[in-house]
Amino acid sequence: MLLDKCSGGRRILWSDGRANQVNQQMGSVELYFETQAQDYQKKCQCWPWKWLRNREARSVITMLDDIRGRSFLEFGCGAGFYSRLLLEAGADHVWALDLSSRMLDQLPAHHITPILGDAAEIQIERQFDRAFSAGLLEFVSDPAMVLANLAGHVLAGGVATVLFPVANIAGFLYRFYHCRHGMFLNLFEINEFINMAQRTGWTVTATNRCGPFSAVVNMRRNS
Ligand SMILES: C[S@@+](CC[C@H](N)C(=O)[O-])C[C@H]1O[C@@H](n2cnc3c(N)ncnc32)[C@H](O)[C@@H]1O
Repeated sequence: MLLDKCSGGRRILWSDGRANQVNQQMGSVELYFETQAQDYQKKCQCWPWKWLRNREARSVITMLDDIRGRSFLEFGCGAGFYSRLLLEAGADHVWALDLSSRMLDQLPAHHITPILGDAAEIQIERQFDRAFSAGLLEFVSDPAMVLANLAGHVLAGGVATVLFPVANIAGFLYRFYHCRHGMFLNLFEINEFINMAQRTGWTVTATNRCGPFSAVVNMRRNS
């Protein structure tokens, strides 16, 4: 484990030089989010994102009950929209992973451990009883690999809450929006997601449609 001096020793670069490898192999997803990072949190406060996010966040918070005093692992934290929400709702600490170091730079200073790495491959030397991910799975090349890796970081019986886009008309518009940035987004049928979760060590215990193109699920880590 190395500490990144540029961020005052705050950021953890896990796993023997993986951060260098990540930086060298930046694809369109990483480049896109690196360039968006500085204003990302501000843009979330503008229409239509503010409206969308508030709708999604209300459902997410309902699904994430029993937050107080908990430590969360968050995959694909971005500039920390949901990390902040978790902390405001009483979470004790968020271990926040993202591929973009500039996104990590936007995170709040306290009660967060930023981790630079790829959600499909990162190996963090601890396990959590709560995990969270929003808006990540559509951007990864192998969503099942990410869910399997998440399972490896959650204790048996632990719970992950995951927000992802569904394959409906609004979802296809969302995909089209990001096609313009050179990315082809994954969209999910809810049943397809439940099967993928089962194959990767999870049992989905609750699902909720929220917003025009999103669904949020709670899944329990199998023993
Ligand atoms: C749409 S943003 C969502 C950010 C945040 N969860 C939110 O709701 O504001 C997706 C984030 O996932 C990150 N990301 C994409 N692929 C990743 C990967 N393979 N591993 C880790 N983070 C990734 C991006 O850098 C970006 O910050």
